[in-house]
Amino acid sequence: MKIYTMNCALCHGTLDNKPSLLQGSFYPAPPQLILHPLDDPEWHIYYAVRTGIRYTGMPAWNKALKEQEMWKVTSFLSRLEKLPPAVQDYWKKSFGSLPPAAGPEGEDHSQHHD
Ligand code: HEC
Repeated sequence: MKIYTMNCALCHGTLDNKPSLLQGSFYPAPPQLILHPLDDPEWHIYYAVRTGIRYTGMPAWNKALKEQEMWKVTSFLSRLEKLPPAVQDYWKKSFGSLPPAAGPEGEDHSQHHD
């Protein structure tokens, strides 16, 4: 959660469920990973994080983050909708909102794209 907040939220949306202010500043636009959680396999997420995505604003993180940090943020993103209760509490206390699909609003994930 911390690694995401420090490095990724700027482009991919913050944990208070607001879309990124930079969302419209990139083409292609960065997917809003908190509002629309990924259902990609972990290796796919890890690969995108590690190598970046060519010809887009998505940086390669392998020089900025340690191997273990890349895996941590990967597993965070792939488990957004099934975080343990303690993590959900921490999220709620820190950001005043609930993780996706844990709240009564029931986020609409139908716009997910691959
Ligand atoms: C400077 C802006 C920027 C930052 C910072 C950034 N990203 Fe991205 N990211 C992008 C953009 C733009 C794309 C979309 C690329 C595309 O459309 O193919 C993307 C795509 C992705 C994808 C692929 C999503 C999919 O649909 O498969 C993942 C995963 C991802 N980012 C994770 C991260 C993580 C984790 C971090 C922090 C360590 C991060 N990004 C930081 C801009 C950013």
